[in-house]
Amino acid sequence: MRKIGFLTSGGDCQALNAAMRGVAKTLYHYYGKDVEIYGILDGYKGLIYGNWKKMKPKDFSGILTVGGTILGTSRQPFKLMNVPDENGLDKVKAMKSNYKKMDLDCLVILGGNGTQKTANLLSQEGLNVVSLPKTIDNDIWATDMTFGFHSAVEIATSAIDCIHTTAASHGRVFIVEVMGHKVGWLTLYAGIAGGADIILIPELPYDPDKILSALEARNKEGKDFSILAVAEGAISKKDAALSKKEYKAKKAKSIYPSVSYEIGAMIEKKLGQEVRITVPGHTQRGGSPCPYDRVLSSRLGAAAGKLIIDKKYGYMSALVNGEIVPVPLADVAGKLKGVDTNSSIIKEIQDMGISLGV
Ligand code: F6P
Repeated sequence: MRKIGFLTSGGDCQALNAAMRGVAKTLYHYYGKDVEIYGILDGYKGLIYGNWKKMKPKDFSGILTVGGTILGTSRQPFKLMNVPDENGLDKVKAMKSNYKKMDLDCLVILGGNGTQKTANLLSQEGLNVVSLPKTIDNDIWATDMTFGFHSAVEIATSAIDCIHTTAASHGRVFIVEVMGHKVGWLTLYAGIAGGADIILIPELPYDPDKILSALEARNKEGKDFSILAVAEGAISKKDAALSKKEYKAKKAKSIYPSVSYEIGAMIEKKLGQEVRITVPGHTQRGGSPCPYDRVLSSRLGAAAGKLIIDKKYGYMSALVNGEIVPVPLADVAGKLKGVDTNSSIIKEIQDMGISLGV
């Protein structure tokens, strides 16, 4: 009998269930009744504190289209993994001990960047681990795409689409704040797809004067409304020059709930134009996965299942040039896949006259 544990960790996204279904279907297809799957609840928390349940094949039926995660999730920061909990519990030791208690042959871990770091740690600690790249941010190293990203692009784009009509009716400036603290993939894609006039991403610190001149240029052309797609983590050139500590202190003192509000106030003050701000927030992570994500997560899941069957551990299933390939967890952990500011997409946006605030 083969025993395989599943866990989903970090912020959820669409297609987590579809990915688990892909792994489970593959395992059941190859092993039939000779495999047992254990669902570890609420991410690494369940592995640390021993909270899991034995799954049945029917648990993985009908979940291809269901958002969220049937196992629950939680954020367990990697940097605290080696710090004992409030009762002095050694978390890594506890995870290893629970893995043994379940008598697992392999642990399947679905998560974003922090999750991959802990997956790598567990692999280095001798556990058999296979992981899958999930996140709406698309910022996981070594995979061209993460599942969740395209579903979130659809939601953020649809928010911009809706804003377009009301912005045009009222002749206002609208800012749509898109998720992504560290990287701007989602803002870039939704901004292009939604026809934003200005797109601000963390990788390209903005110059406020460039935002104003882009808006003024539109006004001169007789366009009395404008739309900005602004990443949560967009940052001005001035702020980007601050140390991390100084920036954190500045943000703590700020009267604005987020960067979009700061930019909005600046536009109102300097141009006298009416500004409205829309934050789709966690709607971007919710709902049913789009067909692209259903396909990608099923393929990644099937490949992860095959890695387990082949006893090839310590890998993340990744999409590279259209093919699903295993990449060593050690190559993934600790790296961030931001938007390459020298890539052609940046040039293409600028060639269309869309401002990136630089
Ligand atoms: O990492 C995914 C993500 O949705 C980011 O885009 C966002 O900045 C963050 O999680 C929000 O985290 P939380 O759900 O913990 O507020």
